[in-house]
Amino acid sequence: ADALKIGIAGLGTVGASLAKILVERRDMLTTTCGRPIEIVAVTARTKGRDRGIDLSVAEWFDDAVDLVRDAKIDVFVELMGGAGDPALAAVKAALSRGVHVVTANKALLAAHGVELAGIAEKNGCIMNYEAAVAGGIPVIKALRESLTGNTISRVYGIMNGTCNYILTKMEKEGLSFEACLKEAQRLGYAEADPAFDIEGNDTAHKLSILTTLAFGTKIAADDIYLEGITNISIDDIRAAADLGYRIKLLGVAQKTDTGVEQRVHPTMVPLDSVIAQVDGVTNAVAIESDILGELLMVGPGAGGNATASAVLGDIADIAKSRPGAQTVPALGRPAGALSPYKRAQ
Ligand code: NDP
Ligand code: HSE
Repeated sequence: ADALKIGIAGLGTVGASLAKILVERRDMLTTTCGRPIEIVAVTARTKGRDRGIDLSVAEWFDDAVDLVRDAKIDVFVELMGGAGDPALAAVKAALSRGVHVVTANKALLAAHGVELAGIAEKNGCIMNYEAAVAGGIPVIKALRESLTGNTISRVYGIMNGTCNYILTKMEKEGLSFEACLKEAQRLGYAEADPAFDIEGNDTAHKLSILTTLAFGTKIAADDIYLEGITNISIDDIRAAADLGYRIKLLGVAQKTDTGVEQRVHPTMVPLDSVIAQVDGVTNAVAIESDILGELLMVGPGAGGNATASAVLGDIADIAKSRPGAQTVPALGRPAGALSPYKRAQ
């Protein structure tokens, strides 16, 4: 069968891990997908950087939009990050030309997901984004596919690996907030600007995507009540433990009588709860629905391989022509406007 030709924009923590897996597991993936997956084009900011992988067979582009326009690709894999250009322009260019897109970029989706979904649908192509929420946990698939027919009442959980890593390390090793953050950055968990992690925006971006899939409301990350972990001290963590609790940064979206409430904030969870036991970079997402009941998914929430695993699954779905649900469901009500937390601010 014809190879699936992909172009990768962004060869950092996630992009380099993905490229390595695609090269090293080429034969296995060919068997699984029924056709080879070939990296034919790449771009990043710095051309000469050693990325621990030989990509000389792929054509180098200095610019992501040029890659989309000039490389003959079936799938554009966007792993640069950022809500604006070049990620936005390149994804738009790809979808407009009928090129499928796989992205891990929750900031982009939180800001422009609806518009991009529209372009994808208009041009009959797929936009997959499993890695954008909770790293390697297949939560998008669960909401788009597995829970079809369920009415969802609540989605909540630990959705930022960096924050959970920091809170865990502070508690278990007594290290300072700053030292833990530095370590999370070194391990490739944090965003390029870690303020997105520790101030809660990254969790809000992810929650807004889940809310849209779960409740069919418009993506409205800006309307989510938002409080990060920057004010949490070791003393707070110890005081919570003395009372029988652990502090976790949670994102919560739930149906209320008036709409959908969305909030992100540090939360005291009972020490004997499952979510309190979720340590380090691990994420946990709970989905409550009427047919299935409560589903709790726990797994690696950040890092090169965990994220690349989800990106690879999205690419493989396209290779196998299993598009999944198109992009976002019917967009009726604006979620944020219905949030009681928005009105209370
Ligand atoms: P990195 O910062 O490690 O890598 C970003 C890559 O994009 C680098 O190769 C960089 O080039 C390239 N890049 C950045 N800006 C530009 C630009 N203007 N033009 C061309 N290339 C550019 O980020 P990550 O790999 O960690 O993250 C990538 C995406 O995945 C982001 O959207 C992030 O939110 C998301 N994500 C990350 C996870 C993680 O655990 N790291 C988990 C889930 C999602 P160069 O290398 O030359 O500097
Ligand atoms: N910075 C993010 C996190 C990456 O720490 O969870 C995964 O989305």
